[in-house]
Amino acid sequence: MALQAPCAMGKREGRHRKRRAIPYGLTVVVLCTVCVVCFALPSVHEAHVRQIPRPTAALLSALEQGDEQLALHLLNDFNRSGSSFPQHRSRRRDCTPLMLAAGAAGRCWPRLVERILDFGLGIQAADVAAVSRSGRSAADYAELAGEGDLGARLRKLAERELKETAKQRCPCCGAPVGRRPRIASLADRYRAGQHQNPLLQEFFRKNATWASLMRPEFHTFHKSRSFHKELSESLCILAEIEKACPSVLHDNWHLIDLCCGKSLTSAIVSSQAPNLSISAVDYVSPDGIPHYAAAGIRTVSYLQQDLLDNGALQVLRERIDEVGYPTIVVGLHLCGNLSVFAVELFERLDTLRTCILVPCCLPHLRDAPNTLKHLYRRSVPDEQQYMEWASYLEARLAAIPKVTVSKTFAPHMKSKKRLILTAMKHHES
Ligand SMILES: C[S@@+](CC[C@H](N)C(=O)[O-])C[C@H]1O[C@@H](n2cnc3c(N)ncnc32)[C@H](O)[C@@H]1O
Ligand SMILES: *[C@@H]1O[C@H](CO)[C@@H](O)[C@H](O)[C@H]1NC(C)=O
Ligand SMILES: *[C@@H]1O[C@H](CO)[C@@H](O)[C@H](O)[C@H]1NC(C)=O
Ligand SMILES: *[C@@H]1O[C@H](CO)[C@@H](O)[C@H](O)[C@H]1NC(C)=O
Ligand SMILES: *[C@@H]1O[C@H](CO)[C@@H](O)[C@H](O)[C@H]1NC(C)=O
Repeated sequence: MALQAPCAMGKREGRHRKRRAIPYGLTVVVLCTVCVVCFALPSVHEAHVRQIPRPTAALLSALEQGDEQLALHLLNDFNRSGSSFPQHRSRRRDCTPLMLAAGAAGRCWPRLVERILDFGLGIQAADVAAVSRSGRSAADYAELAGEGDLGARLRKLAERELKETAKQRCPCCGAPVGRRPRIASLADRYRAGQHQNPLLQEFFRKNATWASLMRPEFHTFHKSRSFHKELSESLCILAEIEKACPSVLHDNWHLIDLCCGKSLTSAIVSSQAPNLSISAVDYVSPDGIPHYAAAGIRTVSYLQQDLLDNGALQVLRERIDEVGYPTIVVGLHLCGNLSVFAVELFERLDTLRTCILVPCCLPHLRDAPNTLKHLYRRSVPDEQQYMEWASYLEARLAAIPKVTVSKTFAPHMKSKKRLILTAMKHHES
């Protein structure tokens, strides 16, 4: 028996394919971890997909390996060729060349630091104020490497830089914000009639929500490379809420957006339901979440929680009690057993009235019910895996007392995994 890669969403990006030859037991573990990592760390994933130009890759690699001579040589090449200072970061630590020279690679190279500073401090040059994914700046790395004086100097330079470039930065977190979000070209293409997805056409025709998503407080969406797909998915969820449970958008309800990622679905629903209380839940750092409060949106809050932790159900129960409204739970592309978590949550908490679930990949073989183990053979097509997995989840939802379930195919969702399971509890009150 051989295995299908469980998450085709990751597979499409080309990460899973080469691992197929690994013996069966191991494959499950590797594929599953990779799938979660892909989604959990979008910037790692993007760096993986994006090609780093060769000279930049050589510089990053020389800096990571502490080859000072080679790095100096490559920096001279950058100057001689007149090309702008490289903006890519190292894959492993998400570090700029300056951070690597300052100590992120384990040791500080003061000569390299000075040489990099020669290129200028700004966002397009050494970017002295930048921080890595772990929140550290070049100054922090220099101090950690025992270069206190250099660290202090870098810190002063970074403060000055932040002040001088304030207009090009997010007022909340200081991250550089592009003059024009990358995703703005999507609206252009729709307005030029180049795409026909009716949900997005309608979305761009109305404009207001789009305009608010373009504000700097939402900059974490702006560089996304799969925004077209993500927007189509979130708009399908909104349409499903409007169809199945329109009162959510007008009366006092609480919406839980499970595994929200960057919380695009929450942002889209919130734009149509300004009074709806929304809890966006994921286990990733809040760095990727828009600055809702600063944008004047007080109804959306982020809850950082690992949903496979033992205490997760209790944490959600407390959140639901605190808000105190009837609750709808939404789960868009919940990988593996996380879909089962959504079903069990809906089953156990009485205050949950509606559940809208779009399943994703199969669970780990270890967690799969016996009736589905045959799906893990390599010969089983992806579509069949997905349909049978969705049917299993549908049956689990339908087995909950007083619940009716519908299964619909979302034709405008730009994903192969576009079955929506909608379950409603009927209360006689
Ligand atoms: C396929 S993505 C879906 C993201 C979002 N709903 C969307 O469709 O754009 C899966 C999400 O699940 C989150 N996730 C994975 N495992 C999790 C866990 N154990 N607890 C909470 N979130 C988790 C990931 O961080 C990621 O954001
Ligand atoms: C680049 O080279 C020129 C000419 O040798 C020199 O004047 C300049 O300072 C150099 N700039 C950087 C950033 O190294
Ligand atoms: C929508 O935005 C575009 C581009 O910003 C603008 O030209 C157009 O007039 C706007 N339409 C509406 C209905 O506001
Ligand atoms: C939101 O609540 C306010 C105050 O209760 C109310 O005036 C307003 O009409 C509500 N807006 C919507 C869209 O329901
Ligand atoms: C995940 O799978 C296991 C089966 O191994 C099951 O016992 C558990 O309840 C499932 N659900 C969650 C939310 O972990």
